[in-house]
Amino acid sequence: MTTFKIRNLSKIYGTKESQVVALDNITLDIPKNRFIVVLGESGSGKSTLLNLIGCMDKPSSGKILFEGKDLTKLSKTQMTEFRKNKIGFVFQSYNLLPDLSALENVEFSTELVNKMKMDAEQALVSVGLKDRITHFPGELSGGEQQRVSIARAIVKKPEILLCDEPTGALDFETGIKILEVLKEIQSDTKNTIIFITHNKEIARIADTVIRLRSGKILSIEENLSPLTPKEVEW
Ligand SMILES: Nc1ncnc2c1ncn2[C@@H]1O[C@H](COP(=O)(O)OP(=O)(O)O)[C@@H](O)[C@H]1O
Ligand SMILES: [Mg+2]
Repeated sequence: MTTFKIRNLSKIYGTKESQVVALDNITLDIPKNRFIVVLGESGSGKSTLLNLIGCMDKPSSGKILFEGKDLTKLSKTQMTEFRKNKIGFVFQSYNLLPDLSALENVEFSTELVNKMKMDAEQALVSVGLKDRITHFPGELSGGEQQRVSIARAIVKKPEILLCDEPTGALDFETGIKILEVLKEIQSDTKNTIIFITHNKEIARIADTVIRLRSGKILSIEENLSPLTPKEVEW
């Protein structure tokens, strides 16, 4: 089963004089209900791809089909609706609101969606932050803040969780914990997680690994026996 069918997708930034081809005519199917890693060096087009899938931006050409609909044809309002209803985002920078507690940060996200899908407290418990619910971001470690941002993303039970190098700013041990939380979410909720990284080792926990280089697909591989995060070293 596939979530996104990507067809001849290109993204070119800039003007005629200074063009950057960030994605160069890529075609691929993204499997559903899997933990997918998109692997590539810095500048290979990973974030660009994720932003297009997440309806944050429009491509220069090509299609992204989701449930038979071409997402590249959506209006601004429809793009916002799609993000709100289907997508959870986790970024390298946690983007928490500093004056709100962990719980309020997560609740704030539920207020933005039409129907509350999960209890904010429950979301924080599921990322292991039961004892940090009333803490403010400034009182939390980097790993804890990242877990708040994961709770904020999963509280609306998104079908698709898009993660842009969420462990990039974290030390090894903390990074492993974040991977464990995400793997657990994936096996509990059977959602689709697309996790982008430049770290080859992380790719070993994925069900599917998509490798990008210079805006092109280098390979797509199924991992028959993914490692657990604890077995990974980097
Ligand atoms: N808004 C932008 N304007 C111009 N160039 C951009 C923009 N965003 C990304 N790029 C360029 O597109 C290429 C791919 O970037 P990106 O998708 O961020 O790569 P990655 O996430 O793999 O590091 C890079 O060369 C980058 O400099
Ligand atoms: Mg990036």
